[in-house]
Amino acid sequence: MLKDFKKYCQLTHLSSICPQLVDLSSKALRVNNGNIPKWASAINAISHHQPGYVSFKPPYIAIDTDIIIDELTPSLKKLIPWRKGPYQIGKLTLDSEWCGDMKWNRLKDHIKPLQGKTVLDVGSGNGYFTYLMALQGANIALGIEPFLLFNYQFQAIRSLMKHPPNAFVLPLKLEQMPAESSFDTVFSMGVLYHQKDHIQHLQQLKAMLKTGGELILETLIIDPVHGEQIIPKERYARMRNVWCLPSTNTLHTWLQNAGFKHIRLIDVTKTTPAEQRATDWIGDNTQSIKDFLDPNDNNLTIEGLPAPKRAIFICQQ
Ligand SMILES: C[S@@+](CC[C@H](N)C(=O)[O-])C[C@H]1O[C@@H](n2cnc3c(N)ncnc32)[C@H](O)[C@@H]1O
Repeated sequence: MLKDFKKYCQLTHLSSICPQLVDLSSKALRVNNGNIPKWASAINAISHHQPGYVSFKPPYIAIDTDIIIDELTPSLKKLIPWRKGPYQIGKLTLDSEWCGDMKWNRLKDHIKPLQGKTVLDVGSGNGYFTYLMALQGANIALGIEPFLLFNYQFQAIRSLMKHPPNAFVLPLKLEQMPAESSFDTVFSMGVLYHQKDHIQHLQQLKAMLKTGGELILETLIIDPVHGEQIIPKERYARMRNVWCLPSTNTLHTWLQNAGFKHIRLIDVTKTTPAEQRATDWIGDNTQSIKDFLDPNDNNLTIEGLPAPKRAIFICQQ
């Protein structure tokens, strides 16, 4: 995949940062991770299946191919948990924990067209949205995702595609990106609340954008009745790494302070089990949102904090 990225990247507006991206990614892939042999053998087995053409058949990223379900399933299951999706591969439905199309539907009519654009998807997971961005006609959609398993999942899906779209996922953090304003559109979805320094994250996102470029920011928020922001003392909805839950007004101010303009709040949605739920593809730990909420009051998390609600802001560099 890195080879394909290197070859294609040179033809895009990312050509000047391409060598650095390749170098950083090769280093990240060389880490000592005991799971790599298992994941690599899964990819190897998957790549022997018949590839097919890809398209978006909501809710699925669908690959039109003639695979044998019982032969492909064990290899894909070596890459669990499949959090993001869903995917349809021939007759095999890879039903991920999250119904990604629901988020995409909330934002797709509000963003500037991606046709011909250079797009960055920060915290791309396995690349479900990165593929959608490329299928919308982006010149290149680059996902960055430090968690290695999700890079392997991206690769698994890609190896089943005949003529994959111009989507790539590299094992990088936003903080590692070369400081060059290269992108027309930047997505940061489900990432801000994982950052200890949210202002720095917003500034780094801004630094990625060309003048007039667009940021799509999706993150957990709280209703104003709960105050300006909550900083969870311990876990939030059983997650250990949640650092900030601002109100939408507070988040608006943070975006303003980071220098963004034309800030629009386009959606606020409570996360429900219709969007996030346990499926056969998440492995043995089958907990999902219903287990993260107070069993007697689904407006509260198990820790007594406001239940997950997410906002989408769109703003300009
Ligand atoms: C909750 S997932 C969201 C995935 C996807 N963007 C979505 O909206 O469904 C957040 C992802 O961001 C990644 N992430 C966390 N910090 C990051 C950083 N500093 N740079 C890039 N990715 C990061 C995590 O590894 C995780 O896979």
